[in-house]
Amino acid sequence: LIHLDSAAAGRQSEATLAAAAAHARLETETGAYVAQEKAAETIEGLRKDLGEVLGVPADGVVFLESATAALVALLDACPLPAGSPVGIVAAEWGPNLEQLAWHGLRPVELATDGGGRLDLEALEHRLAADPPALVHLTQVTSHRALVQPVAEAAALCRAAGVPLWVDAAQALGHVDVASGADAVYGTSRKWLAGPRGVGILAVPRRSWPQLRVLRAALVGDVATPRYLESFEAHIAGRLGLANAVREFVEAGPATVYARLAEVGAATRGALADVPGWELADAVGAQAAITAIRPVAGQDVAAERQRLLADHGILTTACALARAPRDMTAPLLRVSPHVDCTEDELARLAAALRS
Ligand SMILES: Cc1ncc(COP(=O)(O)O)c(C=O)c1O
Repeated sequence: LIHLDSAAAGRQSEATLAAAAAHARLETETGAYVAQEKAAETIEGLRKDLGEVLGVPADGVVFLESATAALVALLDACPLPAGSPVGIVAAEWGPNLEQLAWHGLRPVELATDGGGRLDLEALEHRLAADPPALVHLTQVTSHRALVQPVAEAAALCRAAGVPLWVDAAQALGHVDVASGADAVYGTSRKWLAGPRGVGILAVPRRSWPQLRVLRAALVGDVATPRYLESFEAHIAGRLGLANAVREFVEAGPATVYARLAEVGAATRGALADVPGWELADAVGAQAAITAIRPVAGQDVAAERQRLLADHGILTTACALARAPRDMTAPLLRVSPHVDCTEDELARLAAALRS
């Protein structure tokens, strides 16, 4: 298999697979809750590692089952009055728009440049003249190579007293996520190449007083993000993630980010002149996600299936629901990780031509 689908779910290393499997075995051998106690130090180490990557204290890092579960937990813990405007950009992840609407909120579009990137000057004016109740940004877009300037946006939002939440599902392990936002959430399984079933939410200490958390209220404690975690959870997954994040930290986050930007440019370079397809973004865009648009009437889902069945190449067919305010037609997404080779990209280009 040529795996070019990290934006869906990355491949775990042998050591990450072994760490999760070893914990599952320990649960059977010693009892699940005894095993959890034995794993406590490793999981605290994971919170510390992720806290450093995300720019929050270890106690501000909590685990849920997915990025979506983290957003739902946040919406529940920080309720806004019905109809509150939430600033978003057009490329926002479609299911997030659905969650906002489901929670009675009103997404309002913030100005962007021609490529879909947040216009910071316009944001500053908007925050002064007509501030939304919340700004929500998806740092790296799911369906194409688009990265939002979240650190700059966080500084502007903070100065205006408007909270900023960042969806880092495609950003964590891919680009720098230490933005200073009021909440950042993501997942283990994509660019960090950890197990499925582990979501991550990071909240800086200054935002803890804004959390409304049932369990803290019941036991009469001050709210900390930790109370948002389910008592029952995929602990083996956290052990696998602890290994994946250690590998990421030891490789050097800045080195990984630079390599992924290079892989994205190499992918777009390899696909730029394939007949019947056009790039959705510039070759030099700073992300490892590449999207190509069919211009000869191809069915993207059928092309994705043909690449997999006939050529052993794994990609994603992106339907419009992913970003209904940005996409006008389905896209084929290619998302290799740091180990991608020129030969793999040449084989993809040849398969698309065939
Ligand atoms: C930008 C973005 N946000 C959120 C999600 C949802 O993540 P999860 O499936 O972990 O809930 C995804 C998943 O692909 C995504 O790409």
